[in-house]
Amino acid sequence: MKRNVFVIGIGAGSPDYMTVQAIDALNQVRVFFVPDKGAEKSDLARLRREIIARFAINADYRIVGFDNPVRDSANANYRKGVSDWHDAVEDVYGRLLADQLQEGECGAFLAWGDPSLYDSILRILERLRARGDFELDYEVIPGISSVQALAAAHKIPINRIGEPIMITTGRKLQEGFPDNADSVIVMLDGQAAYKTVDGDMEIFWGAYLGTDDEILVSGRLRDVLDDIERVRREARAKKGWIMDTYLLRKPEGH
Ligand SMILES: C[S@@+](CC[C@H](N)C(=O)[O-])C[C@H]1O[C@@H](n2cnc3c(N)ncnc32)[C@H](O)[C@@H]1O
Repeated sequence: MKRNVFVIGIGAGSPDYMTVQAIDALNQVRVFFVPDKGAEKSDLARLRREIIARFAINADYRIVGFDNPVRDSANANYRKGVSDWHDAVEDVYGRLLADQLQEGECGAFLAWGDPSLYDSILRILERLRARGDFELDYEVIPGISSVQALAAAHKIPINRIGEPIMITTGRKLQEGFPDNADSVIVMLDGQAAYKTVDGDMEIFWGAYLGTDDEILVSGRLRDVLDDIERVRREARAKKGWIMDTYLLRKPEGH
């Protein structure tokens, strides 16, 4: 039996980020696979369920919760840690698709933001297809990523006129500001890597974008660094987790 799956980008924070295409796809789904244990923050799991309840007007669906494996961040070999983690995720997803879909039923994974950006779902599905335990077909619905949410919240273009942008991670930024980049978007920064760059840079920082808890700070890095540190600390203490993204760019003319 062939498995048909949607990967639906649900936007990075607000249910209002759902596109018409995403809502249409949602209404063709009979089985939603929702990570609600393990690594997934309960707030995010709740948002996924809210989106399903609000937009799936045809109530003929079921939700299958699952435990998303966690990457072993203690593994000193980052790539090996990621590879082991992907193996574990592949097993979990493979079992969900093999066991939970009946003939003719369409399944779905709801990807935070856009499925193509720092999300392993598409790699995992491709691996499952290559593995060949069952026939698998999937469609990808784009979503509003945290990058777009950040730019809209700050009312800024991401690129300077005719200039490139780079999207990277906190881990990479710690190795140094990229040589030939003018504007750099940083995601997945658990280590506050912005502290390691030149204080002359401009920063546009946003946390919990698109949610009621959204926080924005912008300015010359050296002027706002303490604010960001304090706001981050307070927010993390209050909510128990933080999700932030920022744009760094060299001041005009540098
Ligand atoms: C695993 S990546 C997923 C990115 C997602 N696919 C997207 O399109 O935005 C998670 C990172 O995205 C960023 N992020 C996602 N949602 C965010 C939000 N609502 N506010 C700020 N940053 C967010 C953070 O940098 C976080 O560490």
